[in-house]
Amino acid sequence: MKERKVLVGITGGIAAYKSAQLVRLLKKAGAQVRVVMTEGGAAFISPLTLQALSGNPVHQTLLDSDAEAGMGHIELAKWADLIIIAPASADFIARFAHGLANDLLSTLCLATEAPIALAPAMNQAMWHNPRTQRNMHSLASDIERGQVLIWGPDSGEQACGDHGPGRMLEAEALFERAQDFCGDTGKEKPLPLHGVKVVITAGPTREAIDPVRYISNHSSGKMGYALAEAAARAGADVILVSGPVSLACPEGVSRVMVSSALEMLEAANQSIASECDIFIAAAAVADYRPEVVSDQKMKKQGDEGLVIRMTQNPDIVATVANSGRARLVVGFAAETQDVTAYAEKKLRTKGLDLIVANDVSNNAIGFNSDENAVTLITPHGQVEFVQQSKRLLAAKLIEAMYSELKQKNKAKKA
Ligand code: C5P
Repeated sequence: MKERKVLVGITGGIAAYKSAQLVRLLKKAGAQVRVVMTEGGAAFISPLTLQALSGNPVHQTLLDSDAEAGMGHIELAKWADLIIIAPASADFIARFAHGLANDLLSTLCLATEAPIALAPAMNQAMWHNPRTQRNMHSLASDIERGQVLIWGPDSGEQACGDHGPGRMLEAEALFERAQDFCGDTGKEKPLPLHGVKVVITAGPTREAIDPVRYISNHSSGKMGYALAEAAARAGADVILVSGPVSLACPEGVSRVMVSSALEMLEAANQSIASECDIFIAAAAVADYRPEVVSDQKMKKQGDEGLVIRMTQNPDIVATVANSGRARLVVGFAAETQDVTAYAEKKLRTKGLDLIVANDVSNNAIGFNSDENAVTLITPHGQVEFVQQSKRLLAAKLIEAMYSELKQKNKAKKA
């Protein structure tokens, strides 16, 4: 759990006392912990206790200018790698399931991209109530997308004397789930992609017309950056060859900034000079560049109009595939029609191992959006990834690419 940022949300329920122990275990394992309490949570356990155990001030109010000036709800939402709501009361689950944002905890749960684990805790009759069960069932698609996890509840004797399901899991059991989720068994274990070298191209390219003008496209670079972040998190050595975008370089990634397709090709070639394991071409490279770049700012041509002759850019991913210097080569295919058929054609003509196909005719996903839905085309068939945040999707794609690399290496040895 070292360096993991875990946000523990405590809502109103007698099981809140167990959360103090959960915070202690997370801290002991090296995680950074911040606690957010609802009004109900603070009625069961003192915020001072949680402040002392977490080593950080406890956050309680949404509409508080002092608190927002410190670490506001959006900052908290972005800070967390994992959110654990323990206990998650029936009331909190109902608000959460309906997307309400009427206190700090429910608001940051709406604003975050981090996975949220709910540890339900309530009286067995409240748990059995069809309204609670309906709320739980309504989370099915979030669970499928990996955005929500349900940890518990346990069954047994309850604080009120009843017997049945609704007991919150013990702190030790929740801690184990958190460890498993973070891929940490408590022992020193290398991250899955440790020693794997990944090179990624991302963003648009700019093809100069003259010193002040260029031809480019709307690529935001978000998908390529999310892939770089996911690969680095999984322990890979990552080089990100990026076209001009305003995104920050993800932690642990070495970035080379380029402008044109020719510069991108040169940087990609340099990055694979000593070979690489996975090359991912997520950049939206301009197909053509002006044949001649004017030294001086071009003047208006008047009524005659302007003709710029264009010349074709080299295909970076095809060049890399052809060089044999990358063990697994992955391309992207942004299409507006017959998505998988065109993608399969690109896979073959460019000599790729895998291709990620997405339908850019849908405005809700793709280029500038924070979400994407894609089909990964592999030699063994297709895998669909439903619409989800590019961050979550990137982690799943990196996992799938790594599994393909292992299969390819194994086949080569045999
Ligand atoms: O041919 P098309 O541009 O649709 O192919 C898309 C895939 O090829 C993407 O992976 C993109 O990064 C890569 N590509 C490239 N160099 C180019 C054009 C596309 O690497 N000149």
